[in-house]
Amino acid sequence: MTDPSPSLATPYRTHTAGQLRAADAGTKARLAGWVHRRRDHGPLIFLDLRDRHGITQVVIDKADAPDAHATANRVRSEFVIAVRGTVAKRQLGTENPRLPTGEIELQTTEFEILSEAKTTPFYINEPDAPVDEGLRLRYRYLDIRRQPMADRLLLRSRMVQAIREVHHANGFVEVETPTLIKSTPEGARDFIVPSRLQPGSVYALPQSPQQLKQLLMVAGIDRYFQIARCYRDEDLRGDRQPEFTQLDLEMSFVDEETVMAFIEDMAIEVSKATTPERPLQQLPFPRFTYDDVIERFGSDKPDVRFAMELVDLAPALTPASGFKVFDEALAAGGRVKAIVAPGMAGITRREIDELTERARRFGAKGLAYLALEPGGEFKSPIAKFLSEEAQRAIVELSGAGEGDLVLIVADAAAVTADVLGRLRAELGERLGLADPTVLAYLWVNRFPMYKWDEELGRWDATHNPFSGVVPEDEELLVTASGDPARPSPEDPAGRARALQYDLVLNGWELGGGSVRIHRRDLLERSFLLQGQTTDGMRDKFGAVLDAFEFGAPPHGGIALGIDRWAALLAQQTNIREVMAFPKTQSGSDPMLEAPSAPEPEQWEELGLRFVGLPPKPAVGG
Ligand code: AMO
Ligand code: AMP
Repeated sequence: MTDPSPSLATPYRTHTAGQLRAADAGTKARLAGWVHRRRDHGPLIFLDLRDRHGITQVVIDKADAPDAHATANRVRSEFVIAVRGTVAKRQLGTENPRLPTGEIELQTTEFEILSEAKTTPFYINEPDAPVDEGLRLRYRYLDIRRQPMADRLLLRSRMVQAIREVHHANGFVEVETPTLIKSTPEGARDFIVPSRLQPGSVYALPQSPQQLKQLLMVAGIDRYFQIARCYRDEDLRGDRQPEFTQLDLEMSFVDEETVMAFIEDMAIEVSKATTPERPLQQLPFPRFTYDDVIERFGSDKPDVRFAMELVDLAPALTPASGFKVFDEALAAGGRVKAIVAPGMAGITRREIDELTERARRFGAKGLAYLALEPGGEFKSPIAKFLSEEAQRAIVELSGAGEGDLVLIVADAAAVTADVLGRLRAELGERLGLADPTVLAYLWVNRFPMYKWDEELGRWDATHNPFSGVVPEDEELLVTASGDPARPSPEDPAGRARALQYDLVLNGWELGGGSVRIHRRDLLERSFLLQGQTTDGMRDKFGAVLDAFEFGAPPHGGIALGIDRWAALLAQQTNIREVMAFPKTQSGSDPMLEAPSAPEPEQWEELGLRFVGLPPKPAVGG
C-alpha cells in the first residue's frame, strides 16, 4: 500500500499515512485519514491513522497537548481526523517492522475531528475476517476501505494504465464509441433503453463495440482500442457480469499472426507491470487448434498448469472389450476416453456416486472407473465385464499408477470430451494440481466457423458473425442443396474453419477475436448460412454491409475481458472481486438498490405501461 510519491500533499496533509520514515524524524508533519485502531494508556493515546497509502502511528500525550488529548479521547474507529505534530523515532523495542512507517510516530500537538463514524457493519481493520457477501456489496464503500479490495482496485488501475501505454506506444488511437446504439449481437440478450424523442423505439446497449470498431477500420483509423463498457443480459456466473469491461481493439491490414503477436507482447508487458513476481508458464504462448484442445483437454479453455490429459481408450478396447457400453459407443462412432485422478484410488462409495452424478449432470450416461489400489489390485464395478487383458491395457494406456483412479466416459465424441473436460477442471481444482502463482496463457485457433442449431435449423457462428474463414475453406461456405436459404446439417459449411483465435489464461477464456470478412458478398453468404434473410441482415448489419462498398481494408481484432484479466492477476475466482460496484446473482445493486421502478412521470414521458409478465411455470411443471 505504500506510495512513495511526495506529490499528494494537500491543505489537510503534508504526507500520506504511508510516507514518513526515520529520516523524517524531527520534522513537522500533518496527516489526515481514518482511525484504524485506538489504544489508551492513561495519559497517552496511541492511534493508528490509516489512508489508502498506509498506516502511521499517532501519539497524543496529555501533558504536552491537553486539548488534542481531550479530542482524541472522543474518537472511535473510522472517525476521519486531521493531526499535526512532530515526527519522532519510536523508542527502541517499540518499532513495528511490519509497517513501512514502523520506525516512527507522529507526536501530535493539534487534533481535529473532520467526520464522525457510526459503528461499521463489519470491521475495516481486520482485512482477513470473513464478511457476508451481501453486506460487503450493500456497504461497498466500506468494503473498498478494507485493504484487500483497495489493493485489487489498485492492481486493476495499474493494469489498465499498462494496457494504455502499450497501445499508445504501438500506434493505436483510443476512440470512444457510443453506448446508446442498435443491437450488436454477441449471443446474449440486449439491454434496451426506450427513447423519449421517438416513443415506441429503443436503443440497445452494446454487447460489444464490434460493428463500430469495424466501421472505424473502414474510416481509416488503422489501429483502434478502447476500454469499453459492454452489456449483456445473461445469467451471472463467477466470470460473468451483466455489465463488464473489454479491452477492445481492431487493426487494419493484418493477418492472424499480426494480431496474435501484438496481443502476446502486450499481455506479457501487462503481466510484468502488474504481477512481476508471477512466472509465465510458457513463452511464446503455446498454440493449439480447437480440435487439439478438445482431443487433449476436453475444453476450448483448458487450464494447462496441470496435465491430466484425456486418454483415448479405443486401442485397449478393440476389437471388442466385452463391456457393452464401451463396445456400442465405439461401434456408433463415439469415443471412450479417460482421465487419471492422481492419488484418488481410495475414493469412497459416496464420493464416486457424487462424481457420477456430476458427470450425469454434464450430460454423460454414466461414469465408469477403475481404481488402482496400492499393491496393484484393481477395484472396478465394470471389471466383471472386461477381460483382464483389457483392464491391463486401460491402465497402461492411461499411465495410471498405484493409488490412482481412472475415470472413463463412453459417449458421442462431443459428450465424452465435454464431460471429461469438466471433470478434469473440477478435479484439478479439488486436488490442487495447478500452481496458483503461475500464469499459463495459451492460444486456441482454427475453430469451426459454425455449429448447427438443431432447433432453429440454421448454422450459428461459433464466435463472431463477422469472423473470416480460413482461405482454403472459403469455398465451403455454401449449402449442400445450392440454395443459400435452405441450410442443412450436411452442408460443407459445417467443415469450414474460422480465422478465430481465443486467448486463454489459467482455464478461463480471457479473450476472443478474429480476422474479419471484409467483402460484402462473402459476408452476405456467411449471414445467409446463419439464417439471416436479406432484409434481416440489412436491418441488423446494414451499416457494415454498406460501408464495405466504400473501400474496406482487410482487418482483424480481438477483445479481452478486463474484469476477468484483473481477477486472474489478483488470484480471484469471481470477477466481482475486482469490480468496484458489481451486481449480485440476481443482477441487482444492493447499495443503490437498482434496478428499481421508474417514476410515474418517466413512464408517461416514454409512453410506457408495464403490463406484467405471464406467471412462470411452477418448478418441475
Ligand atoms: P466475446 O463475446 O468473446 O467477443 O467477448 C470478449 C471477452 O469479453 C469478456 N466477456 C465478459 N466478461 C465479463 N462478463 C461477461 N458477461 C462477459 N462476456 C464476455 C470475456 C470474453 O473473452 N466483439 C467480440 C470480440 C472480437 O471479435 O473482437 C466479442 O465481444 O473475457
Ligand atoms: P450399467 O451396466 O448401466 O449398470 O453400468 C455399469 C457401470 O458403467 C456403471 O458404473 C455406470 O456408471 C457405467 N456407465 C454406464 N454408462 C456409461 C457410459 N456411457 N460411459 C461410462 N460409463 C458408463
